[in-house]
Amino acid sequence: MMKVIIAKTEAEMNNAGADLIEQLLKEKPDACLGLATGSSPVGMYQELIRRCEAGQVDFSKACSVNLDEYVGLTGEHPQSYRYFMNEQLFNHVNIDKARTTVACGVGDPEENLAAFRGEIAAKPRDIQVLGVGVDGHIAFNEPGEVLHGLAHMETLDESTIEANQRFFASRDDVPRKAFTMGMAEIMHARKLLLLVNGASKAKAISQLLLTDEITTANPVTMVRLHPDVTVVMGQELADAIGYKA
Ligand code: GLP
Repeated sequence: MMKVIIAKTEAEMNNAGADLIEQLLKEKPDACLGLATGSSPVGMYQELIRRCEAGQVDFSKACSVNLDEYVGLTGEHPQSYRYFMNEQLFNHVNIDKARTTVACGVGDPEENLAAFRGEIAAKPRDIQVLGVGVDGHIAFNEPGEVLHGLAHMETLDESTIEANQRFFASRDDVPRKAFTMGMAEIMHARKLLLLVNGASKAKAISQLLLTDEITTANPVTMVRLHPDVTVVMGQELADAIGYKA
């Protein structure tokens, strides 16, 4: 079942996502959170920080696994996803950082991948937060003839490098490869929370919401195979694709 929430404002969007995570942590304080980077979840993380400071959300028993990491960046690199998570969430809430997993971007790739797969298997996610790339990728599963079930190293598409270059000094600085959770591992989460906004996502999202198609050419359409999906979408994007609740 796919539930679609259209958020009229940014605050509504952030609250809708934060509500789901708050509710989960109340029901299951030791829940495992599948987390995502990118600009889409930032506001939700800010709202969760606020709620944690207010004593409304408690991360003390929770753990987490992140979707992906750039190959070649250390966790201290400001554009690494480990750094992003520390800055945007972990440093500001009462989560035990030792229980947070982000794939290691440096060192032996084979070893890092094996370790990442092991952590994913050992930490089943109660919820998985997702954004979507301009080309329809989820995590870093890029469109193509085939997708992969398990965590693997992905070569980034030109459009992804283009979209992510805004965070780097130049296009050349954007890593060309990333470790990403695989499609099956994403689907194994008990619940999916897809956060989408902005007209650049119109093509990917209209195929998900306005058609019945499921295609490896647009990986986000795969979420339709999951039994419990909540899509939180900004009004601007809903208008752009002509979607009505
Ligand atoms: C990156 C991440 C994805 C994310 C996407 C969209 O490529 N690997 O997990 O969903 O960007 O990012 P944004 O939310 O900034 O549009």
